[in-house]
Formats: sequence, structure tokens, C-alpha cells
Amino acid sequence: METGITVRPIEATDRDWVVRFLQQHWGSDRVAAHGELFYPADHPGFVAVQQGNAVGLVTYVLVADACEITLIDSGIPFLGIGTTLIEAVTKAARQAGCARVWLVTTNDNLDALRFYQRRGFALVDLHPNAIQAARALKPEIPLIGQYGIPLRDELYLEMSLTDETWLAPWFCADHTSPI
Ligand SMILES: CC(C)(COP(=O)(O)OP(=O)(O)OC[C@H]1O[C@@H](n2cnc3c(N)ncnc32)[C@H](O)[C@@H]1OP(=O)(O)O)[C@@H](O)C(=O)NCCC(=O)NCCS
Repeated sequence: METGITVRPIEATDRDWVVRFLQQHWGSDRVAAHGELFYPADHPGFVAVQQGNAVGLVTYVLVADACEITLIDSGIPFLGIGTTLIEAVTKAARQAGCARVWLVTTNDNLDALRFYQRRGFALVDLHPNAIQAARALKPEIPLIGQYGIPLRDELYLEMSLTDETWLAPWFCADHTSPI
């Protein structure tokens, strides 16, 4: 699908834009997940560019053989921007020799759960009520999330970059299935 979207690595001069983007889209430039507080603007990543304008971003950290996506936001949903960003970070993880890409999302984020599973991620862990601890670190996390769902749990998703049996046999590069 031709989207007119390009990606490029985040540069030092993007930092102010990244902080503003996080504040506009997430109400804060900090993220609390898996019991830690971190600042995605400090992480490497990629910017999605549409007609010369930065519209979305993905950030990540590399630890040992794993790449953690610390933030992904397409800015404008459902145009293919998220797919392009996932492809960029997965390529970077492979080039860095990572065996897996992983991330944490929340129980209310049904669009993201759909999106990740359609792109080769699988649910690997559930941390019930983990948002209570996250709120202690970041009190601005709302009580109610998307679709009016109480924001409560952390869900861990992972994509193997080495296990050829990771994906179901019907899973194709274009994300289609015979179902
Ligand atoms: C989750 C997210 C990154 C996905 O990015 P995106 O740019 O929307 O993704 P794409 O456009 O590449 O793909 C979206 C999919 O939703 C489908 N879609 C289209 N319209 C839709 C709608 N109204 N509702 C739900 N899905 C829709 C698309 O067809 C596509 O389907 P596919 O999986 O069958 O290909 C993006 O929605 C986002 O930034 N959300 C807000 C931030 C967020 O929650 N980040 C994740 C935190 S863990």
C-alpha cells in the first residue's frame, strides 16, 4: 500500500518536537510501565514524516538481545503509519542482533492489541492491576481508558526475530489470513 509516509531516525534536533508530541498525545512526556518511569524523548527511535511534516513516532531501547518499544504513536491512526514505524524498529532490532521485540500495553487499548497481533506480536504475559503501581510513579494516568474501560492491567507482547515457528502458518507479510 502506498501511503506517502517515510520514516527517518530521530535526531537531536527533534527532541523538542518529541517532548511536545508526547505532551499533546499522552498528557505528559513520561511513561510508566513494568514498574519503571522513563522518558521516551531520551530514547532512539524513528519519526514518521508525511508531506514534510513529522506526524508520528516510535522509540525503543536495546537491552541485551531484546528491543523494547517504549512508545509508539502514529499521530494519525489507520493510515498505515503505525505499520511503517513497526517495520522500521523491527529492522533496527534485527540489525542490532536482537532476538526479540517486546512492549507493554494496557488492557483498554483494544486497537493496539489488534494492531500488534496482526503484525506478528503475541501476548506473553499479563500483570493484573499493574496500573496501580504505574499511577504511584505517574499520577496523571487516568482511571478510565479507551472505550470507557477501567485502566487496570499491563499486557506484555513480544515478537521473536529468530523463531521461524513464531507466527501461525497462515500469517503472511501483507497481514492477510484465509479466515
Ligand atoms: C496503535 C497504533 C500505533 C496503530 O497505528 P496505525 O497507524 O493506526 O496503524 P495502521 O494504520 O498501520 O494499521 C491499523 C489497522 O487498523 C485498521 N483500521 C482502520 N480503521 C479502523 C478503525 N476505525 N478502528 C479500528 N481499526 C481500524 C486498519 O485497516 C489496519 O488494519 P490491519 O491490521 O488489518 O492492517 C495507533 O493506532 C496509535 O498511535 N494509537 C494511539 C497510541 C497508542 O495507543 N499506542 C500504543 C501504545 S501501547
